[in-house]
This record gives sequence, structure tokens and C-alpha cells, in this order.
Amino acid sequence: MATASSTRRRPPRVESAASKSTTSSPPSPDEPEDTTSRVISPLDILRVILTLIFASCLLSYYLTSGTSLLFKYNPWFLNPSQLSLWWTGPLALTPEQLALYNGSDPAKPIYLAINGTIFDVSAGKHTYGPGGSYEVFAGRDATRAFVTGCFLEDRTGDLRGAEMIYIPIEDDPEEEISSSARKLRAEKERREAKKKVQDEVRRWEQFYKKHKKYFEVGKLVGVPEYTGEPPKLCEPAEKGRPKRKNMNSKKEKKKHAPGKPVQ
Ligand SMILES: *[C@@H]1O[C@H](CO)[C@@H](O)[C@H](O)[C@H]1NC(C)=O
Ligand SMILES: *[C@@H]1O[C@H](CO)[C@@H](O)[C@H](O)[C@H]1NC(C)=O
Repeated sequence: MATASSTRRRPPRVESAASKSTTSSPPSPDEPEDTTSRVISPLDILRVILTLIFASCLLSYYLTSGTSLLFKYNPWFLNPSQLSLWWTGPLALTPEQLALYNGSDPAKPIYLAINGTIFDVSAGKHTYGPGGSYEVFAGRDATRAFVTGCFLEDRTGDLRGAEMIYIPIEDDPEEEISSSARKLRAEKERREAKKKVQDEVRRWEQFYKKHKKYFEVGKLVGVPEYTGEPPKLCEPAEKGRPKRKNMNSKKEKKKHAPGKPVQ
């Protein structure tokens, strides 16, 4: 019994420690403030920001071997022509006015149009300017050439009949198909071909829209309606059309695909 009482533990120390900590007085409100820390003025903030910008420009100048102060970042508002466009609003040019921007006058930007939207491609002077491989697109809307690939013949925005490029040449007179089925198929193929043309146009438009150095400047206006005989499909595009015979024989081959027992 006695041993038990002698080994009785003392009240845990924690308690006393806790009570001690609570006794430590909280900072009194009238304790003297650190009077040496002054209020940060807006001027100080500005000074810090300017210093940081300056240091960053120096670093960029060093890292880009003196070619850029902005780490090669080229925002639209630092491009004079894009800035002036933002100021004046989008352009509206007639085909005659657009023709003046074909790169022959080095003082003027180079424009091209696709489906009536005008883009500034001055940054690609070597491609779109005189002697460039895409020179034919400068100063005009040559949407048809974008679709057919015939740069010389198809320098026009007239897309009528361009869908022929995707429509098969009927070179299989022995094909077994009823005339009504043939008609339905022709309608379906024309519909799909027209959609493909639109997709192609849209793809090119997006190419210029999303390009890092080219940008949209406005719209082509006063384009006369395309009337009369639609342009003929240019020869290279005509030659590239799919052929019904090929398509049918491919289908045959698929039916008897290797590995499948042929009855
Ligand atoms: C570009 O336009 C100017 C003025 O309209 C014209 O004289 C010149 O022949 C054109 N150049 C090309 C390559 O079409
Ligand atoms: C081309 O422009 C016409 C008229 O502005 C528009 O209706 C058509 O959807 C455009 N096509 C594409 C592929 O953007």
C-alpha cells in the first residue's frame, strides 16, 4: 500500500506549463509601436515595379543576345499596323482597292482575302510579295485556288463547281446500280463534296486567323455576284478526282479481305 502511495505520480506538468503560458501577459495596446517602419507610398511601389521591369528587360536582352527586351514576346499592341487598325476599326475594301495591296508598293502592307475576309500577310513578304511562291494570292480573293490548288487558273473567289474535285468520275459503265440509287448517291456525294469545300475554306481562314504573324484587317465589299457559266474545274484538279472504278474495286477487295474465307 505504502509503495503504491509513494509512487503516485505528480500531477502532470503540462497543466502547470499551460497555466504558466496563460499568465504571460498579452501585448498591451499602449505598447510602443515600431516607429521606424514607415508607410509604403505608391511611389515606392512604382519604383519597385520599374526596377523589376528594367531588370527583366536586361535579362531578356542578355538571354536573346540583344534582339528582344520582351523575351521575344510580340504582342499585337506593339505592332504599329495592328495598333492603327485597332484605332481606325476594320477596313472595308472593294476588289479594286484590295488590288493595290499586292506587294508591288513596298510602302503598303500586303493583303489577301479568303472568303471575303481580308488578312494582313506583310510579315510573309517573301512568300506573298513579288517573286514569292504564294504571290498570286496577294491583293485579291483567290479562295478557289486555295481549294483546287490551281494557283494560275483559279485566282477568283468564285467557288461554283469547285466541289467537282471531290465527286468521282463515272468511269464504270458496267456498275450494277439502279438509276434511282444512282441518283440518290449523286445527290449525297454532291452534298458531301460541297461541305468538304466549305471545310477547306474554313481551314484556310482559320490558318490566317490563328497565325502568329498574320492578322485580320477587314472585309471585302462590293464583290459582284458570280453569274454566267461557272468556271471549269482546272486540269490538275480534274485529274485528281476520285474514280468510280477504283472505289468499287476497293469495295470488292474489302469484301474479300485477306484472312477471310472466300466462298
Ligand atoms: C500589283 O498592283 C499594281 C497596281 O494595281 C499593278 O500595277 C501590278 O501589276 C500588280 N502586280 C502584280 C504582281 O499583280
Ligand atoms: C463564306 O462567306 C459566306 C458569306 O459571308 C458565308 O455564308 C460562308 O459561311 C463562308 N464560308 C465559310 C467556309 O466560312
